[in-house]
Amino acid sequence: MPSHLGGSSEPGGDATSGVCRSILDTVGRTPLIRLGALADGLAATLLIKLESENPGGSVKDRVALALIAKAERQGDLSPGGTIVEATAGNTGTGLAIAAAVKGYKCVCVIPDKMSVDKIRLLQAYGAQVVVTPTHVPADSPESYHRVADRLACELAGAWRSDQFADPANPAVHYSATGPEIWSQTQGRVSALVAGVGTGGVISGVGRYLKDQNPAVTVVGADPEGSTLSGDVLRPWKVEGIGGDFEPDTFDCDVVDRWIRVSDRESLTTARLLARREGLLVGGSTGTAVAAARRYAAELTSDDWVVILGADTGRNYLSTFFDDEPADGPSAGPSVESSGGFSAESSTGPSGESSAESSVRPGAESGAGPSVRRNRSGSRALPTRGH
Ligand SMILES: Cc1ncc(COP(=O)(O)O)c(C=O)c1O
Repeated sequence: MPSHLGGSSEPGGDATSGVCRSILDTVGRTPLIRLGALADGLAATLLIKLESENPGGSVKDRVALALIAKAERQGDLSPGGTIVEATAGNTGTGLAIAAAVKGYKCVCVIPDKMSVDKIRLLQAYGAQVVVTPTHVPADSPESYHRVADRLACELAGAWRSDQFADPANPAVHYSATGPEIWSQTQGRVSALVAGVGTGGVISGVGRYLKDQNPAVTVVGADPEGSTLSGDVLRPWKVEGIGGDFEPDTFDCDVVDRWIRVSDRESLTTARLLARREGLLVGGSTGTAVAAARRYAAELTSDDWVVILGADTGRNYLSTFFDDEPADGPSAGPSVESSGGFSAESSTGPSGESSAESSVRPGAESGAGPSVRRNRSGSRALPTRGH
């Protein structure tokens, strides 16, 4: 792993010397970009940590390298071996890039709600893609996690990566992404806003920032229909965030506050980021920016809010960017009411569904945007293995 991500340092080979040993040395050290038009009228400074600048186009490149480095150290992955991953796409891309460089085979099992762009991307890096149905129970042999488990048993020399359970996931964000944000803001960051998929980013970065300054507020941006923020489970369209269970890699105690965002607002905000800021990002970044705008309405000019820009909009050119109304999204005072996107065709939660977690004590009705305070911290939802 590159030394700036906590890996070993080899002379003449690190990106800091001006020559990269491989594309893998370009993972991390992403820019922090100040929002302009989308922060109009807000006193606080809004900054996007632009993880789409990683070579695989997402924050998951960092995680892929960390998982592989640990597997190599532990002897779980040996030369010529096969990486098997159940993925919503981005982690698979990071793994496929690393596999190409390091000479591993890579098999990605992906639910069929994911965009065709993501599948083609994996295949372009030489990964084998296995598509499974989204709408099956978590314990169905057809679910993407169970299919990945089976393939990892059947294939010789296979190692099943598990970003939902491996502590190396939040750890790389604690050791690298968090320190980058702290140093880029020279310690002025006062809040982090991020979506939760595995919870790796929010847990690792959030914990690091709070360790530097306990006054930092961590805000979880969650799609309507996700039970993470206490909503009643129902389908949503934004990929990569939200869920119906709390992964082992998610430290829910780090979240001070939840802000829930509709598909419509998320995707309209993502379109506005491209058209008004020149930032081509995915729907989950739209969710985080929409949540940050709402949160920042309460803040002052002393506040610096860092928003996770998890992935590139190039992954979604055939999905929500293709639905774009001819006259484009408007940037009126309320993003929620603008644009022509219809969320009626939502296809389902990004992860596995389960009846047991669809009803949760204390869950709010999901009608309309809502803001929730921190939960008790107890793990109210069952944590399942993957
Ligand atoms: C597009 C996208 N956004 C956000 C996230 C959230 O990151 P994390 O898994 O660290 O919670 C993910 C995770 O897969 C993602 O794919």
